[in-house]
Amino acid sequence: MHSYQTLENKLHLEQSLPVNENWTAAADFLHLLADYCLREKPETIVECSSGASTLVLSRCCQLNEKGRVYSLENGAEFVQQTRQQLDDFGLADYASVLHAPMKDYLLRNRKFQWYDLTHFYPRGIDLLVIDGPPGVMQKHSRYPALPLLGSHLARQCLIFLDDASRPDERDIVRCWMQEHDEFETEFVDTERGCSVLIRR
Ligand SMILES: C[S@@+](CC[C@H](N)C(=O)[O-])C[C@H]1O[C@@H](n2cnc3c(N)ncnc32)[C@H](O)[C@@H]1O
Repeated sequence: MHSYQTLENKLHLEQSLPVNENWTAAADFLHLLADYCLREKPETIVECSSGASTLVLSRCCQLNEKGRVYSLENGAEFVQQTRQQLDDFGLADYASVLHAPMKDYLLRNRKFQWYDLTHFYPRGIDLLVIDGPPGVMQKHSRYPALPLLGSHLARQCLIFLDDASRPDERDIVRCWMQEHDEFETEFVDTERGCSVLIRR
């Protein structure tokens, strides 16, 4: 069963993952991330929004003895919280939580609020995990991820988009596929839906 507890067992974690019913990614989505990371051992991992997902991805890097997580987080309090949790789990060497407040961008003649990338440096991203910004912030909240991070992706890369059952995320994937025909997409029927994009 894909519970948080089975995930803790899979990752040999001695502490329980900090789970918030409303904000933490569902256990089955985190299992997907862990399975992929443990199998493919990506080197450069970027995620949009920090939390339990940061701990899971960092723990995979620790077990793999390879890779690093760069987590974009807009909320200063969540930056501190996730950094503290990384410390508590002994995972601070495997992740950087980057404070990236929301900034205005103009994309396809529409204004979006998205993470400020001024101090964002990772290049050659092998794995991109998109679980933020929150959908309530604006319509198509996560659309900017591909237009703005596309040039930072490795030639061969994989993208996981959480909450992909929502109409907004379905629209986003449709737009991305129209704009980037080099990607193939697959829908995984997790609790909240997950779209996987792969560039071969
Ligand atoms: C879906 S949550 C992040 C989940 C994260 N990837 C995880 O798996 O734990 C997206 C964003 O919501 C914000 N957030 C997290 N916890 C929150 C809370 N308790 N109240 C309000 N916002 C929160 C943070 O800025 C976070 O980046």
